[in-house]
Amino acid sequence: MNLPSLAQFPVYRPRRLRQSAALRRLAQETTLDVQRLVLPLFVRPGRRVRNPIGSMPGVFQLSADELVKEAAAAHELGVPAVLLFGIPARKDARASEAYASKGIVQSTVRLLKRELPSLLVITDVCLCEYMSHGHCGLVETAGRHAGRIRNDPTLALLARAAVSHADAGADIVAPSDMMDGRVRAIRAALDGAGFADTPIMAYAAKYASAFYGPFREAAESAPKFGDRRSYQMNPANGLEALREVALDIQEGADIVMVKPALAYLDVLYRVKTTFGCPTAAYAVSGEYAMIKAAAANGWLAEKAVTIESLLALRRAGADILITYSASDLARWHRDGDI
Ligand code: PBG
Repeated sequence: MNLPSLAQFPVYRPRRLRQSAALRRLAQETTLDVQRLVLPLFVRPGRRVRNPIGSMPGVFQLSADELVKEAAAAHELGVPAVLLFGIPARKDARASEAYASKGIVQSTVRLLKRELPSLLVITDVCLCEYMSHGHCGLVETAGRHAGRIRNDPTLALLARAAVSHADAGADIVAPSDMMDGRVRAIRAALDGAGFADTPIMAYAAKYASAFYGPFREAAESAPKFGDRRSYQMNPANGLEALREVALDIQEGADIVMVKPALAYLDVLYRVKTTFGCPTAAYAVSGEYAMIKAAAANGWLAEKAVTIESLLALRRAGADILITYSASDLARWHRDGDI
């Protein structure tokens, strides 16, 4: 940017536009609109189940009946979309429930679309919650490479899961596994099954992050051995995120995601400025937990910090905000606090 020197332009006084709330709002560059919010929800078997998640105050594992109530309340406040994660009754080494037509996610999608037709239902497409070992892909069981996560054989399972979600009525499918080539495999499978119009929101730059800790309690998806560093990205890398995103766009992603959010604002900014695609940021469980814990101690002002951190994601380039605080934000909007 070519700014005039102060000598030529001595009258610019930035504080002029900060004098009143109305002036500040008028000149504000970015806003936290409710229309951009996505609320993640966890569904588990049973009826009338609301299991609190210790490390995520205000977030629950819900049975489908309770989940519909939670989604309805959020939607009533203006939240347009939910992101669904399933906790199946049984896990196995092939993640069978991930692609079962009457699986926990598939049946909950059907219920949600019947009860709340205008709510967008996004489904997380991954295998970790459904695998006995908790990894996002098939695991090599024998030989020299025992314990390795197998890339290509996993793609067929992910594609089956995505098709089963679309078949149940999912509005968007969101692969979060980080296997190479999964967007292409999912796009081809969706097209082949008559779901050419179902968009893919790809967790494109997803880092191997310690900020996912509380989520793994919520989704009961912690790996039983090892970690996810052979498939999720190294937090030290920024340029690699651009290659990951480029690949996912080439393979057919309609929305690309950066995850986690607050510690990766540089990545978000580069992704948005490089590709200009619809871009989502996922404020993950650990980000939520940090704010909740500090607020519970009286160390941070919860509402102000939540608003500021999500506004920062918008400023960095996010169009879509995935946040466990979506309903709170919508309520603060309604009450005129934002
Ligand atoms: C599944 C998945 C994870 C998250 C979203 N999808 C966990 C992981 O990769 O271990 C994390 C979300 C959060 O922390 O809020 N692969």
